[in-house]
Amino acid sequence: MVEGPSDFTVSIHYDRRLFEHDIAGSMAHVRMLARQGIIDEEEMGQIVAGLLEIREEISSGEFPWKPGLEDLHMNIESRLSEKIGPAAGKLHTARSRNDQIALDMRMYAREAIARILGCLHGFREIIVDAAGDHAEVVLPGYTHLQRGQPVLLAHHLLAYFEMLGRDIQRFQRAAQMADSMPLGSGAIGGSPYPLDRRSVASELGFSRISANSMDAVSDRDFVVDLLAASATCMMHLSRLSEELILWSSEEFGFVRRADAHTTGSSMMPQKRNPDYAELTRGRTGRVYGNLMALLTTLKGLPLTYNRDLQEDKEGLFDSVDTVLACLEVCAEMVASMTVDRGAMRAAAETGSLLATDFADYLVGRGMPFRQAHGIMASMARDAASSGRSIRDLTLEELRGYSELFEEDALGLDADSSIDDRDVEGGTARSRVEAAISAARSSVEAGIEESTAAVGGRLSGEIDEYLRRFRSMGPGGRNA
Ligand code: ARG
Repeated sequence: MVEGPSDFTVSIHYDRRLFEHDIAGSMAHVRMLARQGIIDEEEMGQIVAGLLEIREEISSGEFPWKPGLEDLHMNIESRLSEKIGPAAGKLHTARSRNDQIALDMRMYAREAIARILGCLHGFREIIVDAAGDHAEVVLPGYTHLQRGQPVLLAHHLLAYFEMLGRDIQRFQRAAQMADSMPLGSGAIGGSPYPLDRRSVASELGFSRISANSMDAVSDRDFVVDLLAASATCMMHLSRLSEELILWSSEEFGFVRRADAHTTGSSMMPQKRNPDYAELTRGRTGRVYGNLMALLTTLKGLPLTYNRDLQEDKEGLFDSVDTVLACLEVCAEMVASMTVDRGAMRAAAETGSLLATDFADYLVGRGMPFRQAHGIMASMARDAASSGRSIRDLTLEELRGYSELFEEDALGLDADSSIDDRDVEGGTARSRVEAAISAARSSVEAGIEESTAAVGGRLSGEIDEYLRRFRSMGPGGRNA
C-alpha cells in the first residue's frame, strides 16, 4: 500500500478498481477518434490491442502498478506506451482526465446499482416467501416497543417488502442520474476536434450525453444520489437487524437465528450472539458518514474540476460494498430464521392487547369512541393491577364497566381482532393474503423497471445477483 507524505496525491491503491470501465471508455473513445478521421485506423488498432492486453494483465494480477504515476489513468497510458510506443500518445487526444474520471465513475455507479438492485429484488422475493410460509402466525404489533395489537407476522414482514420497494425506486433514480456520458467535455469547455459524442455514448450503453461541459466535469450529484439511496437502504436493514436482535433475545424468544449468524462469547459459554445483525446495524453509521463526507467535500467547490473530487471514491466503494454485503446477510437471516409460533401467539394473547377491540365493540353498540376508550383504559388498569388481562374477565365483570357488553364480547380474541382490521392495507387475513399475491406479482414488474433504469446491457448484473439470492437457504429456495 502507498503511504507517506510524498504519496499524498496518489489514488492508484483505490482507483484501480475502475480499470474495466476506464479501459472500455478508452476503447470507445479511440474507435470514435478513428471513425472521425482524428487518428488513423492503424493507430486505433494498436491502441485497442494494447488496452486489451493491459486489461488481461490487470485481471490476472500481473500489471506493474506504479504509485509514482499517481492514478489509474496514468498507469494505463504509461503501460500502453511501453507496449505500443508513440501511438499510445494518441489515446488522450480530445480527452482530459477530468472527463475521463467522470465517465469511469458513472460507469461504476451504474454497474454497482445494477448489482444492488438484483439483491433488493432477490431479498424481496425472500420476504414474500417468508410471509407466505408464516401466513397464520400471530404476534403482537408494537408501538413505543409496548405491545399494541395482534397482527399477522406476514403483515409485519411485508412492511419490509414496502421499504425495500422504495429503496429500489431510489436506486433506479440514481441509475438514471448516472446515465449521462461526459466524454467530449475535455478539461472544461469541450473539445476543438470533430467528435461524435453520441456514438461513444451508445457504444458504452448511455442513453444521454451531458449537456454542459463545465457541469459534466464537476458534477458528482449521481454519487450523492447513490450514497443517499445506500444510507436509506442501510437504515431499513438496520431496523430489521434490530428487530431480529430483539426477537432472538431470551426476553422475546420469538425467533431462532441460524447458528451461521451467531458467534459464541469468548467468556460466557452459554451465549450465542447476534453478530451479523449487530454488524449490519453498526455499519449503517459508516454508510451515513460516507454521504455526509461527500456532501461536505462538494459544498465549497468552485466550477469546474477540483482535486477534491478525487475524494468521491473511497466512500462510494465502501458504501456499495457494505450495502451489498448487508443485503446478503439480512436476506440469509430472514430466509433461515426459525419462528417460534407458540411464543409469538402467547405474547399476542396476554395482557390487554384487545383493549382497542373491546372499545370498538362498545362503539359498535352506539357508544362514542372517546367514552369507550376511557372505559377500556380503566378496565385494563384494574385488570393489570390484579395480575389479570381483560380477556380473563367474566361477562358479569364486563357489565360492571358497561351494560352494553353481551355474551359475544367473550368471543373477542387475537384472531377476531386481526380479521376485524379488514381495510386495504390492514392486517386482516384476507387482506394479507391478497397483499402476498400482489407482492409476488409486483416483483417481476420491478425487475423489468430496474433493467430499464440501468440500461439493458447491465441486466446480466441484475440477474447474476438475483440468482444468488434465489439459491439461498438449504438447497436453494427455487433450485
Ligand atoms: N485521480 C483524479 C480523480 O480521481 C483523476 C482526475 C485528475 N485530474 C486532474 N486534473 N488532476 O479525480
